Amino acid sequence: MKISVIGAGYVGLTTAACLAQIGHDVFCSESDKQKLGMLQAGVMPVFEPHLEHVVKNACSAGRLRFGATEEAIGWADAIFICVGTPPLANGDADLSAIESVARMIAKRASGYRLIVEKSTVPVQTGAQLRKHLLVHSTNGLKYDVASNPEFLREGTSVEDFLHPDRIVIGVDASRAEKMLREIYEPIIDQIFDCPIHDACGQRKESAFLVTDTGSAELIKHAANSFLAMKISFINMVANLCEAVGADVTKVAQGMGLDPRIGSTFLNPGIGFGGFCLPKDVQAFIRIAEKSGCDFSLLKEVETINQRRVEHFVEKIRKELWVLRGKRICLWGLAFKPNTDDIRFAPAIAIAKTLLAERMQVRAFDPQAMEKAKTLLPEITYCNNAYEAAEGADAVLLLTEWEEFRRTDWCHLATLVERPLIIDGRNALPLEDLTRSGFEYIGIGGPSASPRLEPVMIRV
Ligand code: UDX
Repeated sequence: MKISVIGAGYVGLTTAACLAQIGHDVFCSESDKQKLGMLQAGVMPVFEPHLEHVVKNACSAGRLRFGATEEAIGWADAIFICVGTPPLANGDADLSAIESVARMIAKRASGYRLIVEKSTVPVQTGAQLRKHLLVHSTNGLKYDVASNPEFLREGTSVEDFLHPDRIVIGVDASRAEKMLREIYEPIIDQIFDCPIHDACGQRKESAFLVTDTGSAELIKHAANSFLAMKISFINMVANLCEAVGADVTKVAQGMGLDPRIGSTFLNPGIGFGGFCLPKDVQAFIRIAEKSGCDFSLLKEVETINQRRVEHFVEKIRKELWVLRGKRICLWGLAFKPNTDDIRFAPAIAIAKTLLAERMQVRAFDPQAMEKAKTLLPEITYCNNAYEAAEGADAVLLLTEWEEFRRTDWCHLATLVERPLIIDGRNALPLEDLTRSGFEYIGIGGPSASPRLEPVMIRV
């Protein structure tokens, strides 16, 4: 099918590339001229595993092209709106980009269009879109509006799109349902050439949930807010474990063995970040407020999350006493591994606090340093984890990149001023560390002093 995707951010670019990968003819538009130029030149504006490969494949197969929104509107029967909906100061989602796309469609398109909102939007946006198109369409446009929320995680977005747990559509017309089922058929049946896994045919089919537009819009905010709630819950349990001398990793394990709870998203740490969870929780609180519902539960989820940074800095203060002038090493700046994204990253908030304490801050992140440099030029950015740790009074693990786990701890011990690791993600191997002479302080209990092997001295 010919499909247009408007907006080439994380969601739009992944959507366009993967729809082309499963066989559709896709036109992806981007209003940011510089980003559009990069894409037309085959340069990826974001770091996302597998995405460059899928985009290049689809372009060379002639199934994916990039251009202006005006052209995209006239190009296909199905139009996926994937523009940004950043938070406004009051926490509401900014829908101005969606509105201006709707206005362009109303002014330019004729004949039939299926308009699919894929951006994260508050409930009833679909209804607003329908009304807006009705009021402003001038070319006899016939249309259906559908909601198709995405559940892509940064770092695994291509895999999440091609092998989703579920595809959710919100429609109010059978034609829209029929078209969306046809668009997603290769993924529903898991029959497509997978760019990630070799023997891919074995994978489970993806659920295809059809509901009304409003419910589909709510599913997105509710799902993300629930994930955020799980994280804040386990972070509170972690605080309790620290207070009573228990081990949160064991508690989480015990909880997660119950399939009603599930073991995922029970990793305590320095808090959730990224461009989705924090803003979606805020937007959901606002949506509820506007509908007369006081979602105080989510307000507490947010408060607990905001306190994670100060809680972690307290750990550093407790160990290092006077912070001013001391040297601190930050391992990780991205809000999570496998992405270069630092938006709402707890690591950045911690770095800002430590800089304000006038510490010497050195940092290394495999992908996110270029973006961090624009925000925090005062940090000393290093070429690798070891260089960042040179002369450090403490090493902080803030983003659990795989490579940090593979550190040569004995070599590291020769570089630091004090062999102290404060692990903000409980991701590092406590045993190996203490055996190599490190003090280890984790989140919610796992802490240990150096357990140097007794050296036998022959007399
Ligand atoms: C999230 C949702 O997972 C995804 O479904 C939605 O489409 C977009 O928002 P993403 O923002 O990429 O995806 O990140 P995610 O993997 O959810 O992690 C969010 C934050 O929570 C990260 O900062 C991560 O470090 C933190 N986290 C995650 C925890 O602190 N503990 C956990 O157990 C899991």
